[in-house]
Amino acid sequence: SKITLSVIKADIGGYVGHTDVHPDLLEIAKKMLKEKGDMLIDFHVTRVGDDIQLIMTHREGVDSEKIHKLAWDTFLACTERARELKLYGAGQDLLKDSFSGNIKGMGPGVAEMEFEERKSEPVVIFIADKTEPGAWNLPLYKMFADPFNTAGLIIDPSMHQGFKFEVYDMYEGKKIVFNTPEELYDMLVFIGATGRYCIRKVYTKNNEIAAVSSTQRMNLMAGKYIGKDDPVLIVRCQNGLPAVGEVLEAFANPHLVFGWMRGSHTGPMIPVSLEDAVPTRFDGPPRVCALGFQLKEGKLIGPQDLFKDIAFDSARKKALEIADYMRTLGPFEPHRLPLQELEYTTLPHLMEKLKDRWEKD
Ligand code: F6R
Ligand code: MG
Ligand code: MG
Repeated sequence: SKITLSVIKADIGGYVGHTDVHPDLLEIAKKMLKEKGDMLIDFHVTRVGDDIQLIMTHREGVDSEKIHKLAWDTFLACTERARELKLYGAGQDLLKDSFSGNIKGMGPGVAEMEFEERKSEPVVIFIADKTEPGAWNLPLYKMFADPFNTAGLIIDPSMHQGFKFEVYDMYEGKKIVFNTPEELYDMLVFIGATGRYCIRKVYTKNNEIAAVSSTQRMNLMAGKYIGKDDPVLIVRCQNGLPAVGEVLEAFANPHLVFGWMRGSHTGPMIPVSLEDAVPTRFDGPPRVCALGFQLKEGKLIGPQDLFKDIAFDSARKKALEIADYMRTLGPFEPHRLPLQELEYTTLPHLMEKLKDRWEKD
């Protein structure tokens, strides 16, 4: 029977500021999943920056009310402790007062996939802080469509026919499926615009699920800035899918993403070990960790902290150089985001204040 892998995440309070998760919250999350998670096969609790991720396996399928409620209740229990400790922004991602059947649209981010576990099932779970779902577009494109990244697209006969990408329009709430390599150029028109379009799923041409990302944009949901979405991504690997090393290789050249300070700056995505997943410089720069698991009848064997490898040191060094350079631009674009992406709402206030001083010219 099929296994479902669910990754549900939320920022429910930072320690200190927006930099990290307090250890008490991780303990509470583990305790909750252990005590209330009868329907789970297995779970793993982790964090990147100020975000907690609940990694869960079960047989309830995607969008299961039971699983989403468990995650919601877990985040509520953590929030209680966050409030006691007066952690920063306690409960910030829980946008609703009560649970209404599905955690999507309530603040937390969700990535879930259901599949028949293969003879061996290696998966990589990427978790990021100080950025947004569009940050996965470039790496997903590299993993599943770029032969300069993924040798298997050329070499492995079972990958040679390419993959299908489901692209989601976060403004209009619409989706489209592109076939690659046939429709690569069409797809790139959209996925290059990372603030609006994001790759939500990747399938093989035989409709086997290969990757799923979280695609919420909380600021669009809430109608005002309440933090970036700090997305997660699940990728199945090997044996007709990209190898673990091909999947990770997509992060070897740190790309620029939206996020960083006040969710309003462009900066490099640094691949780091879990130990180094505490973004402090200018509240960043954006960070990504990769947890590798082997599934065994749904049991999570792992994690392996995949970006700990010293072979990513030069990516980190390059990212830090890019970060230094970007910071020199201060409040100027493209370090500061263009106005329509600026998440803090200075502009409307300023427009109002200065409205009589603008003269027709
Ligand atoms: C970015 C982020 C931080 C905060 C910043 C200001 O995603 O979370 O950079 O935006 O620390 O936070 P507030 O407005 O809460 O003082
Ligand atoms: Mg935060
Ligand atoms: Mg965060």
